[in-house]
Amino acid sequence: MFMSEQYNNEHREPLRILVFSASLRNDSLNTRLAKLAVSVIEKNGGIVDFANVTEFDCPSFNQDLEMDNFHPAGARELRKRILANDAFIISSPEYNGSMPGFLKNVIDWASRFRPQPFHERHALLMSASPSMGGGNHGLWSLRIPLEKLGSNVFSAMFSLATAHKAFTPEGNISDATLSKRFEDNLVSFMDLVEAAKHYPCMKKAWVEFLGEQPDPATERVE
Ligand SMILES: Cc1cc2nc3c(=O)[nH]c(=O)nc-3n(C[C@H](O)[C@H](O)[C@H](O)COP(=O)(O)O)c2cc1C
Repeated sequence: MFMSEQYNNEHREPLRILVFSASLRNDSLNTRLAKLAVSVIEKNGGIVDFANVTEFDCPSFNQDLEMDNFHPAGARELRKRILANDAFIISSPEYNGSMPGFLKNVIDWASRFRPQPFHERHALLMSASPSMGGGNHGLWSLRIPLEKLGSNVFSAMFSLATAHKAFTPEGNISDATLSKRFEDNLVSFMDLVEAAKHYPCMKKAWVEFLGEQPDPATERVE
């Protein structure tokens, strides 16, 4: 047994992780992957908050709707769930080389709360697609708003190529090497989140517009 395995099994502090699939489709491959992540997290001592993405449904973003401090219920729910957990994991389809519009829409709405809820939250991104790319391009597009909002997006993303053929009937990844890679990636992420929880980093400020001149009218620094 490697030292790290011993450490994981014997000393892990409980972590709460929000997991959701960004596909609305019945029989979604991304929902299958998200559910597999749930079982790996629980097997490794984590506590999962599994969300159905319909809980985060929002009208198309329109600044005119923001009068009287309005935030749609879906954005309020996403904010609440992000803040109630130590980290979040999104398994997202790729549509035309990018993330689903639905997902970007709720991120935009949720970014309008102050304090801004994505700041300093840990995120892991994964995708599944019937294509050879596994939806990986879409994850790069998803990193952009999350990193802009100050989330710590885990460097290693997991994309399941030819996903329509990749699962066993029980919902595991049939290829043993790939299956181990998936689990190792999740456990590495959990190790990082656990370490960050107990040894918080010194970064304190979130700045929305880097390079902006200090000006009370446009200040977006927390
Ligand atoms: C509008 C649209 C665009 C798509 N674009 C891509 C794409 O750029 N890359 C890709 O790998 N798959 C693409 N797909 C295929 C999806 O990956 C596939 O439908 C997948 O099963 C969706 O995820 P889900 O099973 O979780 O719903 C696209 C599908 C749709 C409907």
